[in-house]
Order: sequence, then structure tokens, then C-alpha cells
Amino acid sequence: MILKEGKEKVLIIPDLQIPFHHQDAFDFLDYIKRKIKPTKIVNIGDSIDSHALSDYITDPDGHSAGHEHKKALDYLQDLYSIFPNGVEVESNHNNRIYKRAYASGIPKFFLKSFKEFMGAPDGWEFLPFTIIDGIMYEHGDCSSGQQAARSAALSNMRSTVIGHHHNTAGIQYVSNKEKMLFGMNVGCLIDNNAYAFQYNKSNKMQPTLACGVVDKGVPILYPMILNKHFRWVGK
Ligand SMILES: [Fe+2]
Ligand SMILES: [Fe+2]
Repeated sequence: MILKEGKEKVLIIPDLQIPFHHQDAFDFLDYIKRKIKPTKIVNIGDSIDSHALSDYITDPDGHSAGHEHKKALDYLQDLYSIFPNGVEVESNHNNRIYKRAYASGIPKFFLKSFKEFMGAPDGWEFLPFTIIDGIMYEHGDCSSGQQAARSAALSNMRSTVIGHHHNTAGIQYVSNKEKMLFGMNVGCLIDNNAYAFQYNKSNKMQPTLACGVVDKGVPILYPMILNKHFRWVGK
């Protein structure tokens, strides 16, 4: 039951769903960055929400797609000032504009690159997934259920870090007589009261606000502890 050792210290930014992120999300991520001093940054996707472009029912009192994205771009600049370098993996919310374009018959040639769409600096790369120290980082929308992180590790045949499933953050291990793998779901850092999350209001299970770290091959989940006013306690 050997867990493969790694070299890097990876900080994983969870689903932010900007501009519907928790108001203390960036301060919390900055704090974790200063505390652990990561060597690599992975954004696990859904950094923007694009609620207005959803294929599901959208809030008729909500903002337009343009207004929402302009707001998101301002917040993204704040995020990129904390994290000038990193990799973001492909995800369902980030892809909403491209899905709409595809459904409308608009060729890729006419569209901005995702990096340009996000106003991202040169230090950011956008990939379908990434592998660091043999560990897969993918959004997680191809796995389902409470065991999504574990299922992803098993189907990838390597330890795997996911996001996407806001309500089931955690680390699950699976071992045989030879190897040990882990699946980690890093949760999210959303403002759960925002209208974009109306779809989850009646669920018993609610989001876990957290971020993840993989320190030389070992997964760690850092929950964001809130006070009674739902503000981060600051440490
Ligand atoms: Fe998400
Ligand atoms: Fe997602």
C-alpha cells in the first residue's frame, strides 16, 4: 500500500463561481498561499459561474450575461494579482459561452481564446486537465455521486483531485496490496446565498467551503471556518 511520493506543493483553488464567490474567498486563499508557500497553483475550474448563460432555468431578476462577466473580470484581476501563475482545468461553467456558441453554429475562429475571455495574465495556462507528480487534476464533472473523487481516481488509475461537487468535499483513499491512491474533492468557495445557487436551496447537503493542497503527494483539505455571520474567522 504505497502512496507515491511527489516533489511539488500544489495549492488547489476550488470552484469560485465568480461573481458569486464568498466575499472572503480571496483573503482565505491568500492566507493559505502565504502559510503553505506552494510551488504550483491549480485552479480546478468553475472560476466563473456564467449563471445567465446556463441551459437550466435562470433567475429572471438576475444580471445579464454581459453584466455578470464584466463583474467577474474585475474580480478575476484581484485573483490574478494573488496568483500571477497557474493552470486552470476545463470545466462546465467556464465552458458555457463556448457551448452556446457551438449550439448557435458559431465557428471557433470567431471566438476569443478562453485566456483572453478571462483577462488572464501570461502566467496562466488553460488545459483540459493537468498531471503533477503523477496526480491527475480535473474538474470532476465526468464523475458523479458521493464517491466522485474516489471513482475518478479508480477510472484514471492514479490519484486524482477534483472540484465540481460543491457538497461533497473530502479525501477518500483506495488501496490494494501494492498501491494506495487518493481522490480529493476540494469543495468550493461560493456565496451560498447568491441567486445563482437557488437550485441547491432545498438540498439537505450544503456546500463545504474549502481549498486543497497536495504536499509532496499527500492530500490536505483546508476548510474555511466561518463565524455565525458566515464570515471567515481569519485563520
Ligand atoms: Fe462548480
Ligand atoms: Fe462544475
